[in-house]
Amino acid sequence: AQDLTLLGLESSCDDTAAAVVRGDASGSAHILSNVVLGQSELHAAFGGVVPEIAARAHAEKIDIAVEAALAEAGLDLSACDAIAVTAGPGLIGGVMAAVMCAKGLALATGLPLVGVNHLAGHALTPRLTDGTAYPYLMLLVSGGHCQFLRVDGPQAFTRLGGTIDDAPGEAFDKVARLLGLAQPGGPAVEACAKDGDRAHPLPRPLLDRPGMDLSFSGLKTAVLRARDTLIAAHGGLPRAARADLCLGFQSAVRDVLAEKTRRALAACPDVSTLAVAGGVAANGALRSALQDVATEAGVTFTAPPLALCTDNAAMIAWAGLEAFAAGARDDLSLTPRPRWPL
Ligand code: KG4
Ligand code: ZN
Repeated sequence: AQDLTLLGLESSCDDTAAAVVRGDASGSAHILSNVVLGQSELHAAFGGVVPEIAARAHAEKIDIAVEAALAEAGLDLSACDAIAVTAGPGLIGGVMAAVMCAKGLALATGLPLVGVNHLAGHALTPRLTDGTAYPYLMLLVSGGHCQFLRVDGPQAFTRLGGTIDDAPGEAFDKVARLLGLAQPGGPAVEACAKDGDRAHPLPRPLLDRPGMDLSFSGLKTAVLRARDTLIAAHGGLPRAARADLCLGFQSAVRDVLAEKTRRALAACPDVSTLAVAGGVAANGALRSALQDVATEAGVTFTAPPLALCTDNAAMIAWAGLEAFAAGARDDLSLTPRPRWPL
């Protein structure tokens, strides 16, 4: 297949990102640049992403990200075949920033636009990093999402199940807050869990129910109760107890995700790869449990490098490249879609 070069733009959550990817749609790609300008320090004081602050920061930084991505790739925009941009789902003010920027660039250069679903970007990342062949099973676990997707093509996704309440990353973040740990909560809880030696017993939500749906909000409440009981008993939360609570929480999340993954693989007997993406895929305990599930089922396990698990624009450029090769085109009427199921 023919080599294509795409510029990708992403601003749907709290990272302003631009990247240049070159490759062919069969699944061989080079990331020529991958610029991510985070804004977590802007939101730190508020305990979560503040939409207005995010939107303004994206609008201020997206041009800078694009220039940096082109410079790092050593390319002029005219060397690109198309511009891919996240058109949703996400915070409307944020999504708008990259979409407006992409439209301006398209208008100035005459390059075609390709609107990309942010979730498709995550879901197609194993093709970008490993050239994983279709069909494969994707577990997407992030701060905002949790679903099992059967991926049959660049625009062919089947949702097999997912969370009925919180996403696991959101639960990690809330648990970190409950236990006085730093944000983002995932890495902080994982680090704290390393000091635990007896996992605090916590429930395994929805494990007794058939299917692939998941729930994490009850688990977070169970952590809150356990914390309060410990504080009442000790007049504070001892370090060792906090570590055991982190270990217990992480183990519960790992166990339910592993078991539901086992079921999802059983539902897709023709699939030969299990892939994972999203920020929570950075979790070491989860990765090794999923590796075991894959080995057990006789399929290959693939997890992108950490920088491509979390939000980035290389995945958007890649998803745009596959869609573009398949004939997808958008024009200046492209509009942000804050809600956009795959
Ligand atoms: O994919 P992502 O960057 O953003 C979206 O939500 O789209 O994921 C961020 C989430 C945060 O909730 C963060 O706490 C979680 O991923 N996370 C982790 C780890 N690293 C990041 N969760 C568990 N363990 C980790 N090591
Ligand atoms: Zn994401």
